[in-house]
Amino acid sequence: MASLCVKVDKIRAQDAKMALLEHDLLDEDREPLHEGNSIYFAVLDGSEPEVKSILNVEFQFVTGKCPPSRKHRKGNLATLLSNVIPRDLAALIPRAFNIIGEIAILELSEQLAGYKNVIAEKLRELHPSLKAVYVKRSERAGEFRTSELDLAWGQDDPVTTHAENECKFRVDVKNAFFDPRLTHEHARIIDIVTDRARERGTLDVLDLFCGVGPFVIPLAKNPGVRSWAVDLNPRAIELLEANLKLNKIDPARVKCHAMDAKEFLERPDLDSRPPRLFDAIILNLPRKAHEFLQACHGRARPGTILFWYTIAQDFFDGKFMAGKPPVALIETLHGLEKSSEENEINELCPRGLEIVQEMGYAIKQITRVKPFSPYKYIYCFELQP
Ligand SMILES: C[S@@+](CC[C@H](N)C(=O)[O-])C[C@H]1O[C@@H](n2cnc3c(N)ncnc32)[C@H](O)[C@@H]1O
Repeated sequence: MASLCVKVDKIRAQDAKMALLEHDLLDEDREPLHEGNSIYFAVLDGSEPEVKSILNVEFQFVTGKCPPSRKHRKGNLATLLSNVIPRDLAALIPRAFNIIGEIAILELSEQLAGYKNVIAEKLRELHPSLKAVYVKRSERAGEFRTSELDLAWGQDDPVTTHAENECKFRVDVKNAFFDPRLTHEHARIIDIVTDRARERGTLDVLDLFCGVGPFVIPLAKNPGVRSWAVDLNPRAIELLEANLKLNKIDPARVKCHAMDAKEFLERPDLDSRPPRLFDAIILNLPRKAHEFLQACHGRARPGTILFWYTIAQDFFDGKFMAGKPPVALIETLHGLEKSSEENEINELCPRGLEIVQEMGYAIKQITRVKPFSPYKYIYCFELQP
């Protein structure tokens, strides 16, 4: 049967792919096809209405463009489960899941909860190197941004080694944040900071919510970069220290602090070693990072760059809005239709922009990082004094 595809401009391809993946609409049994300035992605049969409602880029439906992927020969989870899961539940079988090292993490709808073990076993047939399959019992929550996980198959050992951006990371999927869907975003920031370090010779970087080190570890491979890494979660810092060893990085080049970012910012005396001021500061804690912006200003060198992550309704194409004053963005955001129960999230970005305005910083670039919930995205704002 001819496959249903969406045709998008190649500059919007990453956005389209992320949205399709996030909403489980991408048909991963077919390869994307590149043709001129367009890319075609196969979407699941019958998904047109949903695709129309979630895709925020210009696109056209086309049929028969994307060839079957090599993986297809093994089948996919839905085909492997066709004799096990009742037909009326088949559409709920997840098409996307996270694989971190040797661990897979699945999100299952309630109706499939009773089938979690058999689903996990079939997933293992598709990915024989897995040692465990966990099912998410909760969304990320709490200060450490971790989810509760139930073992569905394999060894109940949440620690594994994951490869990302040419480095290795010890990760504890139950006890410290790690998201493999941020790989490209990590790489993007690493490239920007590395280019600056090359231009300037040296660069002092502060990663305020560092997790297990997906920004600072690859950056430390660059001899011009010195980093300071802070995380409230002692387990994240313990893994970060292990990751320095694993990647053969001199621990003197990355100073690790298991503490509240606010306390770190308020106490320049904490570290006997300079600097008290930084050339680049990364704030990847989207629900709260705006609360730390003002204090970062006090620790920034002239010409510093702040990478501020926040959540906003899908309101613009960042490329066109960068360079505009923060007030213009606040107006745009306030002009969007919003639902009352989500007021708290809707106000995050405007509140942060007011602080940016007070600080007198300019918005140099805005990047849509990944979907957060329907119609909402995590954005990265690059700010400069
Ligand atoms: C969204 S994760 C980002 C981790 C890492 N930067 C990455 O990209 O994978 C946010 C991290 O901030 C940490 N965190 C939360 N509140 C904090 C605080 N007040 N001070 C320092 N770290 C905090 C959490 O433990 C978590 O590891």
